[in-house]
Order: sequence, then structure tokens, then C-alpha cells
Amino acid sequence: MPKKYFAIVSVLMILTACGGTKTEEKAAPVPSKPIGTVIEIKAPLGLPPVPVPADNPPTAETIALGRRLYYDKGLSVDGTIACASCHDPEKGFSDASPNSAGVGGKRGDRNSPTVWNSAYNTLQFWDGRSPSLENQAEGPVQNPIEMANTLEAVEKKLSADASYVAEFEKAYGPGPITYEKVGKAIASFERTVLSGNSAFDKYQYGGDKKAMSASAIRGLEIYQNPAKGNCAACHTIEKDHALFTDNKFHNIGVGIDSKGELKDLGRFKETQVETDKGAFKTPTLRNIAATAPYMHDGSLKTLKDVVDFYVGGGSSNPHLDQEIKALKLSKQDRDDLEAFLNALTGETPPNIGAPAVGGN
Ligand code: HEC
Ligand code: HEC
Repeated sequence: MPKKYFAIVSVLMILTACGGTKTEEKAAPVPSKPIGTVIEIKAPLGLPPVPVPADNPPTAETIALGRRLYYDKGLSVDGTIACASCHDPEKGFSDASPNSAGVGGKRGDRNSPTVWNSAYNTLQFWDGRSPSLENQAEGPVQNPIEMANTLEAVEKKLSADASYVAEFEKAYGPGPITYEKVGKAIASFERTVLSGNSAFDKYQYGGDKKAMSASAIRGLEIYQNPAKGNCAACHTIEKDHALFTDNKFHNIGVGIDSKGELKDLGRFKETQVETDKGAFKTPTLRNIAATAPYMHDGSLKTLKDVVDFYVGGGSSNPHLDQEIKALKLSKQDRDDLEAFLNALTGETPPNIGAPAVGGN
């Protein structure tokens, strides 16, 4: 065979081989696993142990990488929006707007929930459409009104950055940068965004009966009393910890238009179950003083507005939860309830803000 001809055939064979492997890889991607020393994420006073999936144990390397990615605007199509743009540590890991602006100022219909303690959510999003933090992290990048990018474009961009290549190799060993690794790293970082050790935790679980004001202590009693506030029916408090959510979905009468129709069907979109119409996930109340405005549509501006909303028994509609009814609370009771909600502001752990190096 002439030398030239042989060379062409070899190149063709290599190309076919590469094409073949690529399709196989796409069909059954090999899951990546962190290679570093697994560390235990310490839960602060008032929180249970942090749930961690078996295929994504946290390591110092994946957490640091996830932190860099979380604050990196380069994940969006035009380099303007990071995860932190809508889940900003300065704004309670949420956003001060009722509905956050994504790429090009586009806005959706829902308020960005806090990332604080999202590690404990059994399902992610207001309607629970995502089963895990790893899976959730794929959503915003591809959402046309959030980061408007593609997973492939993110992989390509990160692969062209030598410092990211080095960090991914330290975290997962050699191999291409895949979005699966990106999602796992971001999820591990989010698992460190934990809020506990608030005045309430010190009072309730730390034995410090002076940690909360007299007003907040009265507020706690109203909060728990089924005949008064009845808040703990859904925003739960357990014996040795409190997540302030039952991780379930309820229609509490938010988002009803002037004709009495639900503007957003919420959980129903996922389950098609009639009683899920207008039901949304119970949000945590930790750091609630920092995450205004409130509710899935950001329709309530202050905690006082929220308390007044519950006192009124929510907006009536056919699917209103049985636990929601007009409350008999005096002005003092309402002030006390608000004082209690303000006692849920926790301690900020180190190393969760924008990283000093590496970020851009
Ligand atoms: C343009 C604003 C915006 C950006 C950018 C954004 N988010 Fe969100 N995020 C939202 C909104 C709005 C929701 C609620 C959407 C829903 O429930 O339908 C949400 C929901 C979430 C949730 C679920 C929390 C819960 O309690 O259910 C997590 C976790 C989260 N985002 C993390 C991220 C991460 C990680 C990134 C970056 C990869 C990101 N977000 C980028 C606005 C944004
Ligand atoms: C039937 C269950 C239930 C009860 C009882 C209940 N809540 Fe809620 N709470 C929810 C759900 C579900 C949401 C989100 C609703 C939505 O956005 O449509 C919510 C939202 C909130 C929010 C806004 C959180 C955020 O991040 O936007 C606050 C604050 C709040 N509740 C406080 C209270 C207080 C105080 C009480 C008692 C007076 C109470 N809740 C009783 C289920 C409940």
C-alpha cells in the first residue's frame, strides 16, 4: 500500500473509532466520583446531620470547586449571571426582587427560594420537580430566562480554562470536564450553606433560656399552639432539631387573581393530582428575616404582611389546605410571632461567600 494511502486509511479508522466511543459514552456515561478525602460537613446547633448521596461524598476539593462555580458568571451564555445573582449571600441566599432577572433582564413568575439549608429538601423547586441538588444544578444553566446556556457550552468553556482543568482533576482525577462533575461540585458546596445556631436554637436546643426575648418566647408558643398560630403544623419543629418545613406541598391561598383563579398551578403541574392545584413546597423559615419578599410569587413584602395574611386565613379557593383558617391573634400576639420569626436568623459559616481567588 502506498504510504500516503495508508495514512489516509489510518486517519479514517481513528475517526470512526472516536465517533464510536463517543456515542457509547453518551449512551452510558461513566459516573464520576470525587477522589479526595471525604470530609464530614458539621451541622450547627438545631440541624440534623446533612444528608449526602452515596455517589457524591463531599471533599475539600469538590466543595471549593463548587463554590467557585456557584459564583462564576461564566456559566451563563453572555457572562452576566451566576447562581449567586439570584441566590445572593447578601440577600439571604435569595433575591430582593419578587421574580429574579436572568440573562438580558428576562424574568420568570416565581420568587427565588433561599439556598440556605436546601441540603435538607427532599425535593427541589417550589413544585418539587427536581429530586436532588445535583439534578437541580442542571436547570438554571439551560433555562432560557435564567442563564440561557447549554451544558455542552459550559463543559467546553471550562475545559479551555487551565485553572479549572487543574481544579477538576484535583477533585475527580483525570478525564474530561462534564456537567455531571459541575453539578456534583455545586451540590457539595450548597451542602455547606447551613444556617443554625440562631437565638431560637440556643434557647430550644442549647439550654440558654435567655437567648430569646420575652416577646419571641411568647411568639414561639403562639407558633406551636394549634389553637393560635398553628404554624408548626407545616413549618415543623422536632425534639432535637428544626428544619421549619415538612417537605410537603400545601395550598395556602397565595397567587389567586381577581376572578378567584389560581395564577400558578404549582405542584399540580408535576402530579396532575387535583388536590395539588395551587400547592407549593413549605419553605424553611430559617433566616427568614433576610429573604424578603415572600411566597412563591414574591407577593408579600414584609414579615408583618405574612403574619397578617395568615391571620386573614389565606385567600379562599377550592383547594385551600385544611390547616389554614382565620386566626384569632391580638396585636401583641402578632408582634410576638414576628419577634419569633426574627429569632430564626442563624450564624453564617466560614467559606461560603464569593471566593477570593479563582472566581471571575
Ligand atoms: C435568574 C435567577 C436564577 C438563577 C441564575 C439561578 N436560580 Fe436557582 N432558582 C431561581 C428560582 C426563581 C427558583 C424557583 C423556581 C421554581 O421553583 O420553579 C430557583 C430554585 C433553586 C433551588 C431550589 C431551592 C428550593 O428550596 O427548592 C436551588 C437549590 C437553586 N435554585 C440553586 C441554583 C443554582 C445552583 C444555580 C446556578 C447553577 C441557580 N440556582 C441559578 C432563580 C435562579
Ligand atoms: C398548611 C401548611 C402551613 C401552615 C399551617 C403555615 N404555613 Fe407558612 N407556608 C406554607 C407554604 C406551603 C408556603 C409557601 C406558599 C406559597 O408560596 O404559595 C408558606 C410560606 C410561608 C412564609 C414565606 C416563606 C418564603 O420563603 O417565602 C412564611 C414567612 C411563613 N409561611 C410563615 C408561617 C407562619 C408564621 C405560620 C403560622 C401563622 C405559617 N406559615 C403557617 C405552609 C404553611
